[in-house]
Amino acid sequence: MSIRSITMTTTKRFLSTKHQQNKPKHLVNISQFTNEEFSNLINKASNLKQIYKSNDSRLTIENHQKLLGKLVALLFSKRSTRTRISTEGAASFFGAQPMFLGKDDIQLGVNESILDTTKVISSMTSCIFARVNKNQEILDLCKYSSVPIINSLCDKYHPLQAIADLLTIKEKFGNTKGLKLTWIGDANNVINDLAIASLKMGINVSVCIPKSIKFDQDVEQDAISIAKEQNLNFEILNDPIKALENSNIIVTDTWISMGEEEQRLQKLKQFENFQINSSLINNANINSNWIFMHCLPRHQEEVSDDIFYSDNSVVFQEAENRLYAAMAVIEAFVINKGDLLK
Ligand code: CP
Ligand code: NVA
Repeated sequence: MSIRSITMTTTKRFLSTKHQQNKPKHLVNISQFTNEEFSNLINKASNLKQIYKSNDSRLTIENHQKLLGKLVALLFSKRSTRTRISTEGAASFFGAQPMFLGKDDIQLGVNESILDTTKVISSMTSCIFARVNKNQEILDLCKYSSVPIINSLCDKYHPLQAIADLLTIKEKFGNTKGLKLTWIGDANNVINDLAIASLKMGINVSVCIPKSIKFDQDVEQDAISIAKEQNLNFEILNDPIKALENSNIIVTDTWISMGEEEQRLQKLKQFENFQINSSLINNANINSNWIFMHCLPRHQEEVSDDIFYSDNSVVFQEAENRLYAAMAVIEAFVINKGDLLK
């Protein structure tokens, strides 16, 4: 081998090691965390909530300086209320300027490739919160970005929601170990991450979906293995009454996700008898200590007003907790550069 080719091989190796070392950590889903990392993230969200609510000017200024003068990009191809507000709020808390890039604002998809767009956005920002259609789009962004990509909802996952949800559950119950969460609804992004997040925090999970809907196979396998290792129960059922047996946490989501509007009539039919209402709650043998959760936006078809606005409902606390989840994620992935135990 000539000296030139040895030098080139060494340079390439050096560059590739350097590239690896500089590669940012991305947030794709909850499954990527160890139990300890996930629990640490929830504690971080809780601490940041206390700091935010304390209005302590020293702590506010200290945090404000962490990303002062930086940009945080929100690359959103779908609409959003909570995710947009919480991300913009979290970026501002750390002194960064949030920049919302909706699907009609930039060249992506019409006039420019994902590769070029990602390289350009990541060269000028400290992280990219991305709301997309397919999970593959998140993976493509991760491949090309030089800054952390934060999955802000795709068809398969919604990790920011799961972080806020577990923070809410922890606030309501203190110790999460041994609780039971029952999901009555569709099988996609929100429950996929919520099931894994709950199991990681020691919560038994019962998922109730219509027979005609299939649960994601990867998530199911992952859930089964975490449940086994933690000695917890994970089950997929089709009968709401059975799924609610001894439940503490009752959760649902819209039956018609963004992009599925044309399937509305078919989905309403599939979910007949799945509405969470007082008749269902009274007929089921649920735990006396229970809460109702919903990631929002909510529609009457999936939950009646008497449950949604009841004292057992924590939906607005859950929505507010999206802010502290976004703060925790920015701190862990951007400020602490992916050191998830810090
Ligand atoms: N729960 C949630 O992600 O809400 P938005 O779609 O309003 O962001
Ligand atoms: N499953 C819903 C969640 C909205 C936050 C959707 O994808 O539209």
